[in-house]
Amino acid sequence: MADLTPPVVEPQADDTQVLAVSDLRVSFQTPHGIVNAVNGLSYTIRRGDAVGILGESGSGKSVGVGAVMGLLDSPPARIEGQVRYRDTDLMTASPAEARGIRGDRISIVFQDAAAALNPGLSIGYQISEMYRVHRPGTSRTDALNKAVSLLDQVKIPSARQRVHSYAHEFSGGMSQRVMIAMAIALEPDVLIADEPTTALDVTVQAQIMQLLDELRQTTGMALILITHDIGVVAETTERIMVMYAGRVVESGPTEDVVSRPSHPYTVGLMDSIPRARLKHSKLRTIEGSPPVLTAIPNGCAFHPRCSRRQAICSQDMPELQSVAPERMSACHFAAEVLGG
Ligand SMILES: Nc1ncnc2c1ncn2[C@@H]1O[C@H](COP(=O)(O)OP(=O)(O)OP(=O)(O)O)[C@@H](O)[C@H]1O
Ligand code: SF4
Ligand SMILES: [Mg+2]
Repeated sequence: MADLTPPVVEPQADDTQVLAVSDLRVSFQTPHGIVNAVNGLSYTIRRGDAVGILGESGSGKSVGVGAVMGLLDSPPARIEGQVRYRDTDLMTASPAEARGIRGDRISIVFQDAAAALNPGLSIGYQISEMYRVHRPGTSRTDALNKAVSLLDQVKIPSARQRVHSYAHEFSGGMSQRVMIAMAIALEPDVLIADEPTTALDVTVQAQIMQLLDELRQTTGMALILITHDIGVVAETTERIMVMYAGRVVESGPTEDVVSRPSHPYTVGLMDSIPRARLKHSKLRTIEGSPPVLTAIPNGCAFHPRCSRRQAICSQDMPELQSVAPERMSACHFAAEVLGG
């Protein structure tokens, strides 16, 4: 049985802190056993933060934010831990209270914007009705004007005309702008973007990332960006969390983590990507496979793939702890890794 003792990071008393995830665990009951997708995930987000989440496919990035947003069906998901928005724990809040926060104070955009839009309703109708649901009492005219100003804000040309268009009349990049408009309509404190540009071509990707960055800076909302593109993380975020087997294994200022990782897994992800080629570099494939989540290895979950492993690594699970100012690593030999 894997040792899954969590690194409990107590939420700090800080009035700029908007989101605190503490010891989050998500498992799924499946015919093949219990899939442990998120295993003691803890982090805090402050207003204005720009945080990237990196990790191979299956590391629990989407399930982790899905639990924050209340998007996981339970069953099959079993969710434990704390997800706190300011003073409210979303896990114990009443459904009405949680609804007033999820999709309102914390919102999310996904990869496949076109699929998320209703093909039978105009863009303006979709934005303004969503707005009226969350801000009851708003007139149809005011809500439509709000939709126009949002389309302007996400730089859709001729917003006053385009507000009457349908999803099929928009390109992939423009559809993603519409989804971003909906996500920022209620002026959230936190916007989660789960691979928002994966389906788009490189030029459009850069434009969407620039838009998200500008919106963060002008509105003061926090941005949590999930992506496989290290270049995008390096350019857009100030902090990185690296996930492995449903936990954060390394976190710290983006520039520092990218240039001087303190966890062998991060070293593996960054290795062999020359700085000049960082832009648009996808995560490197590292030797071996991520663990089967029905049977996560004892000790450090990364040990079967780690060239630095010692005897202790298969016995004791390393806690996420400080290795340098603002730097956290869950490796028994973090200081040595950081030191090179
Ligand atoms: N409903 C479900 N039932 C069973 N297992 C699930 C379910 N949803 C997710 N999982 C599993 O949880 C694990 C984590 O999935 P998640 O989608 O969070 O990965 P990810 O890090 O977002 O990967 P990617 O980079 O591919 O998007 C995966 O092994 C996935 O198969
Ligand atoms: S704890 Fe051991 S196995 Fe895990 S990353 Fe560090 S050196 Fe490698
Ligand atoms: Mg995902």
